[in-house]
This record gives sequence, structure tokens and C-alpha cells, in this order.
Amino acid sequence: MAPTPVILDVDPGHDDALALMLACGAPELEVRAVTTVAGNVPLGKTTRNALRVLALIGRGDVPVGVGAEAPLARPLHTAENIHGESGLDGPELAEPTFAPDGRGAVRLMADLVEASAEPITLVPTGPLTNVATFLEEHPRLKNNISRIVLMGGSMGLGNTTPAAEFNVYVDPEAARIVFESGLPITMVGLDVTHEAGAGPEAIERLRALGPVGEVAAELVTFFAGTYRKVYGSDAPPIHDAVAVAAVVEPGILKTRPMRVEIECESQLTRGETICDLHGIWSRPPNAEVALELDREAFFEVLYRSLGELVA
Ligand code: BDR
Ligand code: CA
Repeated sequence: MAPTPVILDVDPGHDDALALMLACGAPELEVRAVTTVAGNVPLGKTTRNALRVLALIGRGDVPVGVGAEAPLARPLHTAENIHGESGLDGPELAEPTFAPDGRGAVRLMADLVEASAEPITLVPTGPLTNVATFLEEHPRLKNNISRIVLMGGSMGLGNTTPAAEFNVYVDPEAARIVFESGLPITMVGLDVTHEAGAGPEAIERLRALGPVGEVAAELVTFFAGTYRKVYGSDAPPIHDAVAVAAVVEPGILKTRPMRVEIECESQLTRGETICDLHGIWSRPPNAEVALELDREAFFEVLYRSLGELVA
């Protein structure tokens, strides 16, 4: 089967870095571009991190489009408490060996979607600012998007406030635009990515994969330290890699169609994703919401894909 063409929209971020590695290593995917957004750290740092990861794995051929430096309607909220000052603290990573594409994220997405012979899958793993802007500015190009598989939201507890998951909390207005776009959406939320906690055994499996695996192991080790401090958990969830793995192997997720609404007004619950599991609103579903993850199958996809990469 021909590989699925994808554009990854990221804010690296430890788990975004692993998501990038997974996507580039998986023969089932063809990474057409990476676009960066402000989120875990400001835009300059997320862009530098995306370039450093791609340089590490020898993928300077993937165009990197620089995106939004702030959410649509709010000041940026970042997460250095989780990802460190650089956004990718832990391993020593060489500086990027190539520059971003001059077009910027939205123009790059538009050019690639327009030119593609097959519909493209978008995989956003940061705040949805770039994707929302792209959909608003280029509504006609929706026709050539196959679907959006995003890491964000939660059916239940949040991680940034008790109600909200980080990516949707940071830019709820963008999330609302994306969920109202009419495109097929798979929401890979926090409740499900929490099944993808990487403990000491996963770290050792990664380390054994070779030079790229060693960097991945160092990333997860740093991430484990901050997760322990902030959430009291020893096995940090590799959230963003789950969304990519679900494109590689859709069977790793059990999903259900339902209506998802984004809270943008309330101060208390800003960024909450309200998922109508039981169809109480009787509104048409706008997303396939992940309910369960086959944890073992996910890690197999992760190890198998990272094992393909050569530093
Ligand atoms: C999400 O927030 C970020 O900190 C992670 O990279 C992930 O995309 C999890 O809530
Ligand atoms: Ca992310």
C-alpha cells in the first residue's frame, strides 16, 4: 500500500519529538512537511527543536514551516515546568543544519495540500492555531484533506487546569474552529494517552534501538523527572506519539463518534472538551473520540518505527 501523506503540526516538546521520530521512521507514512506552533515553549524554541530533531535523524529534506507565535485570541501559556527551558531539555542535541522553509506554516500547508495527488492527513500535536488559521484562510482546500488526527482534549480530567488539557487550553478558539470545520476528526485525548506511560522498561527498549533510540531514551528520562515532580507519576505519557501511531495503525485505538464542544468562555473551565458520550444533546457527531488504547500495540509501533531511523 502507498504510504499515507501527512503534515505534522508540532510544538516540541518531548512527546512531540518522539512523535516526529515515529512519523519519520514509519514506512506507512510519508511526512510531507512539519509545521511549528508556539505551545510548550515560544515559537523560536519549538522551531529550533523541530529542526534539531529532523537534523538528528537525517531528514533535512522535510520542509519546516514556521507558524503562529501566539494563540488566536489570547496570550501564550507555556509549559517549561514539563519540558524545560529549551522545550527539549535532557539530551545534548546538535544545532540544526538547515533552515525553515521561507513560506511559513499556513502557506506551506496550503501549497502542499493543493498540489497533492492524494488527500493529506493532518496530525496536530500542539495548540491548534496553525490548523485553524489554515482552515479559515483556505476553506476550499478542505476537499483535499483526508482527516485530522489530533492529540488534544480529554474526556474527563485535564492536566493544565482540572478541566482542560494543555493544547486545547492554550488556544480554545482555534480548537473550536477545527472541531466545527466539518472535516473528519479523530480526537486522541489525555484520558487515552495516559495509557501510553513510558516507564523504565520502555526507556531501556528505546535505548537499545541505537543512537536515535538513545536520544529518545534521554528525552523520556528528562520527561519522567518533570512528570514525577508535577504529577507524581513515574511513567510520562508519550501523548503526541499516540496520535501519529494511530495513523500508522488505526486499530490501536477504540473510538466512538460523538459531539465535542469546546469551552471558550468560562474562566473556570476554559479549554474543556465536552464530549457527549451518550448523545444527550442529539447533535450530529463531529469527532471520533478515542476511548481506549492498545498500549502494547502502541509501543510496538513506536519501537519498530524508531528502530528504522539512523542518526
Ligand atoms: C500535550 O501538551 C503538551 O505539553 C504535550 O506536548 C502534548 O501535546 C499533552 O497535554
Ligand atoms: Ca505537543
